[in-house]
Formats: sequence, C-alpha cells, structure tokens
Amino acid sequence: MIAGFYTLSASSIPLDTFPKKITRKLPKYPHVPVSLVGRLAIDRKYQGQQCGSHLVVDALWRSCTTSEQVIGIYAVVVEAKSKGVLPFYERLGFVQFQDNPLRLFIPIKTAREALRRLLPDAPRQAGI
Ligand SMILES: CC(C)(COP(=O)(O)OP(=O)(O)OC[C@H]1O[C@@H](n2cnc3c(N)ncnc32)[C@H](O)[C@@H]1OP(=O)(O)O)[C@@H](O)C(=O)NCCC(=O)NCCS
Repeated sequence: MIAGFYTLSASSIPLDTFPKKITRKLPKYPHVPVSLVGRLAIDRKYQGQQCGSHLVVDALWRSCTTSEQVIGIYAVVVEAKSKGVLPFYERLGFVQFQDNPLRLFIPIKTAREALRRLLPDAPRQAGI
C-alpha cells in the first residue's frame, strides 16, 4: 500500500529570479543551488490527514541535513500543480517566485528554524 510519495532532486534556479533583498546577500554566481520537490501526491483515501505536510517536512529535513553535511543548498523549491494548492505550501512557509507563481521556495535557514519548532528533539548534528 502506498499512501503517498514525493521526489527530491538537486537543481538550480537563476539568481535573478530570487527577490532582490535575498540576492544582495548571495554570491554572484548565475545560478543558486536548491533541492527540488518535483512531484508530491497523496492517495485520495489518505488526503486531509497531514500526510502531505509530513512528506514536505521530510523533504525539508533531508534538504537541511544534506546542506549541513554534504553539499550546499540555498533553498528548497516546489512546483505547485495548480493555483489551488498554493495555500498548502504557503502555510508551511514557502513563498512564490515573482516570475512563476506556481514555483515556490523556502530558504534552508527558514526551513531549519521551522524544523526546530516542529521537531524540538531532533539531533543538532542533523543540521537543524
Ligand atoms: C495537495 C496534497 C499533496 C495535500 O496533501 P494532504 O495530505 O491532503 O494535505 P494535509 O492533510 O497535509 O493538509 C495540510 C493542510 O493543508 C490544507 N490543504 C491540503 N490540500 C490543500 C489544497 N489543495 N489547497 C488548499 N489547502 C490545502 C489542508 O486543509 C490542511 O489544513 P489544516 O491543517 O488547516 O486542516 C494532496 O491533497 C494531493 O496529493 N492532491 C492531489 C495531487 C496534488 O494536487 N498534488 C500537488 C503537488 S504540487
């Protein structure tokens, strides 16, 4: 039985698509390294039971630990399937890119702070 799934991959986003207040603080390379949640779906039978939220939190956890221990990642990016699903991501702290309203991001720093609130007992060496 599969209740849901998501994909997580390494990706990069053009620097100038991030808000100016963020790019001011980033190195001036043309692309910013990110992790990308490409697909996310929950079986109808299990929707509305926080499964989707848990999978996104799992993606944030993996991205934070990877960023801490393996390779630099500035943000986690998601591709929303439709406008209707935007509030699902926004309530988790994601913000829209100005040039593509169906693409959202959360800086790793913000994700780490959110995880500290959600998972107060998580081991510090995991990067959160
Ligand atoms: C969108 C989806 C991943 C959400 O997963 P889920 O397990 O049903 O969502 P959760 O139970 O974790 O929902 C958490 C909160 O987000 C809200 N939410 C869930 N789906 C939403 C949607 N499509 N639009 C707006 N809010 C939504 C819920 O009401 C809930 O709010 P609450 O905690 O205040 O009650 C799931 O419904 C799904 O797979 N839908 C079909 C495929 C799809 O649209 N995928 C989108 C990937 S871009």
